[in-house]
Amino acid sequence: MDLGTILKVAHAVLGVWIVAGLVGRWVTLGQAARSTDITAVHTLLGLSARFESMVIRIPPVVLLLGVATAIAQGRPFLGPLQGAPIDWLFVSIVIYLSILPVNGFRDRVVLAAHVYELAAIVVVFVLMITKPF
Ligand code: HEM
Repeated sequence: MDLGTILKVAHAVLGVWIVAGLVGRWVTLGQAARSTDITAVHTLLGLSARFESMVIRIPPVVLLLGVATAIAQGRPFLGPLQGAPIDWLFVSIVIYLSILPVNGFRDRVVLAAHVYELAAIVVVFVLMITKPF
């Protein structure tokens, strides 16, 4: 196995881990918001904080491994900034960097940020796999 493939596998596995963290946070926060039992709310918020820490710690590593994979494969990941056309990789990086970490509970802005974050990661995930342009 070459270096590019090793980096890509590590990158893809951790990428899936981000999706797991986002879905886990979504489900636990949703359940906490619906719960009327204060002990259950406390437990669920504690669990959602575990998912939140996955969502905070892993993305920079995924970005680093993604860029390292691109370099190992000789791909111009900066697209037009490197004189290359706009492709799936450049668009992915732009979308990825547009995600802002927002923390909170039962708040419309936080909910909107979480929806955007999950949608953006799913779009990047689909771009990674399909490489449509
Ligand atoms: C902006 C950040 C990212 C960069 C720079 C990046 C870069 C790359 C590169 C260069 C490849 C290799 C493509 C190939 O060998 O054909 C790749 C593959 C992959 N990436 Fe990313 N990636 C990023 C974000 C993500 C995220 C957030 C996920 C998951 C949610 C993800 C999941 C994957 C998967 C599953 C593959 C394997 C696709 C395949 O081999 O068909 N990537 N990525």
